[in-house]
Amino acid sequence: MVTKKIEFDFEVYSSIEELNEVDAALVLKARESTALAYAPYSNFSVGAAALLKDGNIVIGSNQENASYPVGICAERVLLSTAANLFPKVPIDTLAISYKSGKGKDTEPISPCGMCRQSLIEYENVVSQPIRIILSGMSGEVYIIANAGMLLPLGFSGKNL
Ligand code: THU
Repeated sequence: MVTKKIEFDFEVYSSIEELNEVDAALVLKARESTALAYAPYSNFSVGAAALLKDGNIVIGSNQENASYPVGICAERVLLSTAANLFPKVPIDTLAISYKSGKGKDTEPISPCGMCRQSLIEYENVVSQPIRIILSGMSGEVYIIANAGMLLPLGFSGKNL
């Protein structure tokens, strides 16, 4: 038996003030996109904004449904939009933010497991890492070099 360890480094910034101009603008776009969420059931609005390698920006927000499992997260709305408007154009950086009905939205949000799986599939399809910026409406910002880091030992098409 051997024990193996998986760990990864990520960057922590105290606020968007510490980011470069391009990253800060993308975070603001993600925060702005929370206003497009349809989240009457959770009252938790998520916004995402991606900068594509060709310079285009794509946004997404969570869209809920009275039949709860039908709802879709902001990240997967964004990925579907990107795949349809800009097929096969790699995503350089994706920023995710949220506005909580409980009024507490200063901790960075992290994508759910299903979205991590989708982000990794997108990375694999275009063979390019997606840099991820996580934040709330204010406060600390995390930057993760690629989505794959968020799902260690994940399942992929390579396993089929
Ligand atoms: N949600 C997202 O849109 N992205 C995430 O990364 C986490 C959760 C949505 C799903 C649901 O509409 C609401 O947030 C509460 O879970």
